Amino acid sequence: MTHSQPLAGPIGIFDSGYGGLTILSAIRERLPGYDYLYLGDNARAPYGTRSFDIVYQFTLEAVRALFDRGCRLVILACNTASAKALRSIQQRDLPGIDPERRVLGVIRPTVEALGTLSRGGNIGIFATQGTVSSHSYDLEIAKLYPGFKVTSMPCPMWVPLIENGEAGDPGADYFVDKYTKQLLQDAGCELDTVILGCTHYPLLYPKIRAAVPDGISVVSQGRIVAESLADYLRRHPEMDNRCSKGGSVTYLTTENPEKFGHSAGLFLNHPIKAQKIIL
Ligand code: DGL
Repeated sequence: MTHSQPLAGPIGIFDSGYGGLTILSAIRERLPGYDYLYLGDNARAPYGTRSFDIVYQFTLEAVRALFDRGCRLVILACNTASAKALRSIQQRDLPGIDPERRVLGVIRPTVEALGTLSRGGNIGIFATQGTVSSHSYDLEIAKLYPGFKVTSMPCPMWVPLIENGEAGDPGADYFVDKYTKQLLQDAGCELDTVILGCTHYPLLYPKIRAAVPDGISVVSQGRIVAESLADYLRRHPEMDNRCSKGGSVTYLTTENPEKFGHSAGLFLNHPIKAQKIIL
């Protein structure tokens, strides 16, 4: 796979669908000079309700597709894939595929940032069913901040609303209010920070912000992940040299590329063209 590729390639950004675009935007704002290759597995989204084995299999296929297209570094811009597939890919697959390539996730940098973001250590997490049942956030937070209290709320209706372009519609209000009320009730204490632990959810941000009481911070992951990537590239000049710098973005989807281009263009506020690939 590696032999005929140029020495440097784009940074791969992977998500089950449109959610990773929220991470891509923040990364491009922070690191505009690099080349990026975005892959949305829209044909098989949502991942959030799928089993561990399937999310792992789909994510590995996507990572291999990005490697085949020259990426040396891939960001899983998807909490569900980070929760269910990242560790296996890093430990089991990468050494055999190419030990010099790297795959990074979004959960660890988000949890690291909580140390400065949270005032009282009472954290709420909105995430997919898969991320919640993996307990990845609880485990990482317990490791770094043992005194923090974490309450997680699965929001199974949010990704389908977003993937279907209905995040701005009045119908979405019902499900935003429903999961928010449930989280506040389950927390049973003063939350100080709510993490949007699914990269799709920033597309519902105005509604979520309106539903969560004013004193509670609502945190999206984009800037956190972008800052953590900048830091990673600074600390790993050998990987930085393998990331090409032409300022380009290429979009790949496993679904209809016209539909992806249209919907992604709405999220990004500028028109884009996508290419279809089969995983
Ligand atoms: N955007 C993804 C995440 O951050 C997954 C959404 C889904 O496919 O269910 O979890």
